[in-house]
Amino acid sequence: MNTVHSIKEVRNEIKKWRKEGLTVGLVTTMGFLHEGHESLIKRASEENDRVVVSIFVNPTQFGPNEDLEAYPRDIKRDETVCEKAGANLIFNPDPSEMYYDDASTTVNVAGLTEGLCGAKRPVHFGGVCLVVSKFFNIVTPDRAYFGEKDAQQLAVIKRMVRDLNFDIEIVGCPIVRESDGLARSSRNIYLSNEERKAALILNKSLNLAKQSLNEGERDANKVKDIIIEKLNSESLAKVDYVEIVDSSNLKPAFNINKPVLVAIAVYIGKTRLIDNFTFKM
Ligand code: PAF
Repeated sequence: MNTVHSIKEVRNEIKKWRKEGLTVGLVTTMGFLHEGHESLIKRASEENDRVVVSIFVNPTQFGPNEDLEAYPRDIKRDETVCEKAGANLIFNPDPSEMYYDDASTTVNVAGLTEGLCGAKRPVHFGGVCLVVSKFFNIVTPDRAYFGEKDAQQLAVIKRMVRDLNFDIEIVGCPIVRESDGLARSSRNIYLSNEERKAALILNKSLNLAKQSLNEGERDANKVKDIIIEKLNSESLAKVDYVEIVDSSNLKPAFNINKPVLVAIAVYIGKTRLIDNFTFKM
């Protein structure tokens, strides 16, 4: 496995693989890889002849008061994870390799980006779509793999790929959890021991919601109240949002009569964590 830093090196490698008729899978990441990323890389290596992992903390998807500088980085550790999981190439560019100083192109997926995390992080999805479309153009993968923990991101990227005719299959992969239920996230590293315990409230509140839906509750506001009440029982938790939206368009659902995404964002101390599940009728 090789780590390269320039677009030219990636393109040279891809050209060689394409001449051999090999298929290519892409896993885009911001590094500090955990078992969630590992599962994406493993799946990509099962379904493609070669796997590229991009490791790039993308500045354009962070708002002015977000954690761009503090975002954890450990390329050596990431290289070990990638190699073990079956990656063939890591693309680890500097911001100057990815962005021209006078870049003037934006990628905006309207509608789907307006609610949920998009409402709280106004520049986020523009930055994600821009960088992901650049990675798609650089790597030209057959398939690209994204985690369902970032459910809105997955929906937005699927829409972007459809709308812009990228010839790439987008593969959504299940959320990977710690043994006690906390969804894996690079940001879990920010949590103190006490906060780490408190963070279990996200999964616990979602489990209560699941239970009430399985028992037949169809009023989205009642299900949201169940989640909010549980989250409020944890003193270190501060609700950012609790939403139940139609899975197909991410618009708020009121009566639950088709598949919905139940999504939450919660501050545990200063760390913002997200989690979700999809309920299918
Ligand atoms: O999900 C992430 O880690 C990032 O949003 C992504 C897709 C790598 C783009 O920077």
